[in-house]
Amino acid sequence: MINHRDLQASDYTRMNLPADLWERTLADVPESIREPIALYCRCDPDAARVDEMVRDGLGWVLWGDPGVGKSTTAAVIAKEVRSHAHSVFFVTVHDLREMIRSKATFDDNTVTVMERAKDVELLVIDGVRQMDPRDPVFNGYELERLIESRLAWKKATVLTTRLNPNEQKLHFPDAMEAMRVRCAVLEVKGPNRREGVQAELQARLGVKKKGA
Ligand SMILES: Nc1ncnc2c1ncn2[C@@H]1O[C@H](COP(=O)(O)OP(=O)(O)OP(=O)(O)O)[C@@H](O)[C@H]1O
Ligand SMILES: [Mg+2]
Repeated sequence: MINHRDLQASDYTRMNLPADLWERTLADVPESIREPIALYCRCDPDAARVDEMVRDGLGWVLWGDPGVGKSTTAAVIAKEVRSHAHSVFFVTVHDLREMIRSKATFDDNTVTVMERAKDVELLVIDGVRQMDPRDPVFNGYELERLIESRLAWKKATVLTTRLNPNEQKLHFPDAMEAMRVRCAVLEVKGPNRREGVQAELQARLGVKKKGA
């Protein structure tokens, strides 16, 4: 049975998905990883995979250079999971820290941000990077505990990061070791897409090329 519905603006805000990513589809996923991601996306008739992924708490560590499409890919997965009526929270590490600092709550003040991050069916932590170990608000140790708790409770988790696998192990050794049993580590390769956007923008704003 295909249990799929189109998403509304309220879904996106509930997911905390930045507006920039609302329109992203499988066609925007970098070619180098489109095939495995397509197995989980709507164009594939085997929609049961998404439910399985959520049920078994599977996920990905999407790593690669700046601008290759990691957040785009995570957004496409998040949209798919949400369209199958699962709960999703998409958050950058930076915003998660800010929400913790400002004691943000959800569901009429009944749920703290950390409770939501722990309990939601799919958590996307976007832009994982080296963190200040002495940060009293949210440090790498606490991020690791969050990831480990999700893995232990079989909660689907997707991370995006510019850190390569060696750097991931260096900065988040426990979490990355634990991730290996539930998450595929996938390198996202391709050109930096911001270069094309920047070139168009320069043309639009009338910036002349050097020597022209
Ligand atoms: N077809 C496209 N699909 C997705 N993004 C595109 C496309 N064309 C251009 N872009 C631009 O590429 C930028 C980079 O994509 P994205 O944010 O997914 O990369 P990233 O790998 O997460 O980068 P970072 O390491 O900086 O977080 C987007 O902000 C968007 O403006
Ligand atoms: Mg990104």
